[in-house]
Amino acid sequence: MIVEAERRGAVGVARLNRPEARNALSSELMEMLCEVAEAWDRDPDVRAIVIAGSDEYFAAGADIKAMRDRTFQEALSNPFTSFWPRMAAIKTPLIAAVSGYALGGGCELALICDMIVASETAEFGQPEIMLGIIPGGGGTQRLARVVGKQRAMELVLTGRRIDAQDAFRLGFVNRVAKKREWLDEAIELAEVVARRPPLAVRLGKQAVLAADETTLAAGLDHERRLYELSMATEDRVEGMSAFIEKRKPDFRGR
Ligand code: HXC
Repeated sequence: MIVEAERRGAVGVARLNRPEARNALSSELMEMLCEVAEAWDRDPDVRAIVIAGSDEYFAAGADIKAMRDRTFQEALSNPFTSFWPRMAAIKTPLIAAVSGYALGGGCELALICDMIVASETAEFGQPEIMLGIIPGGGGTQRLARVVGKQRAMELVLTGRRIDAQDAFRLGFVNRVAKKREWLDEAIELAEVVARRPPLAVRLGKQAVLAADETTLAAGLDHERRLYELSMATEDRVEGMSAFIEKRKPDFRGR
């Protein structure tokens, strides 16, 4: 399977598996990844999703061999870009576990995730400019929001790569893990999220994402409404009662 889906308790782990093409994101691979993520998103038992590649490659970007012969008309009528809004619509927290190359669409796939755990071997970049195109999966927009305009400009206009430590310094990745520990660390982070009350987790994700999409005033307004929704859940009564009674909470997702 070009995407291997495995459940580890409340965490879904999707591994990209096209080693012969360095995990290049063919339409078939992206379709399967979207289907796996969407199915887990509908399953209340899945509380967090990890997207990973192999030790050597997260993903080398869109499939250049398939792209070369795509006509402009084909690109318009069957846009590869339609996979990105589907991934962005996933309400369950997404954690990218990146080891090796995350280039072009691979970097954009990591950026669409809510958190990134990188191996010390990870390399990120937007090399599209070298192919005569520009990023089309959110690479210019999400990157600029995460690392700032000047740095995004350098990455997009030179196509240069940055390593895991630089990515960490730029606030691009949440943590850098040792070579053999990157996947375990990502799953561990996902497990922490998975233990939290799931409705509040979804509301929290939605609220933070609004920071990128709205003005401060509109974002604060949105946050206030989502906060009020969280106050309507049974889990928040349980969470507060457990705190006061000095016991562990038993969250039910209600
Ligand atoms: C198709 C790819 C590929 C890709 C590698 N391969 N990347 N095939 N699409 N993106 C294939 C190679 O053609 C080769 O096939 C095999 O994988 C091994 O690749 P090598 O280059 O020999 O491997 P290596 O020396 O290990 O180098 C790895 C690499 C390099 C650094 C990742 O392959 C590379 O630079 N790839 C391209 C990265 C890139 O430009 N990404 C941006 C794509 S555009 P054969 O048949 O020779 O064995 C993009 C746009 C997104 O992502 C738009 C979103 C809407």
